[in-house]
Amino acid sequence: MKFLVLNGPNLNLLGVREPGIYGDVDYDGMVRITREECAKLGIETGFYQSNHEGDLVDAIQAARGRFDGIVINPGAYTHTSIAILDALKAVAIPAAEVHISDVTKREAFRQVSYAGMACCVHVIGQGVAGYAIAARQLKEKIEQAE
Ligand code: DQA
Repeated sequence: MKFLVLNGPNLNLLGVREPGIYGDVDYDGMVRITREECAKLGIETGFYQSNHEGDLVDAIQAARGRFDGIVINPGAYTHTSIAILDALKAVAIPAAEVHISDVTKREAFRQVSYAGMACCVHVIGQGVAGYAIAARQLKEKIEQAE
């Protein structure tokens, strides 16, 4: 099973960016942890990060036929992007939403998740460990549906 782990704006600044909220593991560290944990579960991973909404839409479209699942943290586009929601629905690849922070306890504008509407798994507030947790849950969902 092969999953695309997709990250949106400012997640390249993990470790630097508001460490009190997002922790002190940097982007490369998150990739390493996620890749290793997923490998233990028999999940191969590909990673992509962009600060640009259209790039994320392109990456979702390009995942067709190449990935069995998408683990996505759209960053702030979570709360604004109908284009990312539509892309996830268009490709119909099983998807898991990840948020490093507990968005449910943050500002009102973070309480809407458009991308999450196309996801069958939601992992929120588990730090960078959340990516591998989401991958495990997504794998289980896919296997249950087979
Ligand atoms: C985030 C939460 C979003 O509200 C925020 O804009 C991010 C990161 C998270 O991982 O907790 O960029 O998706």
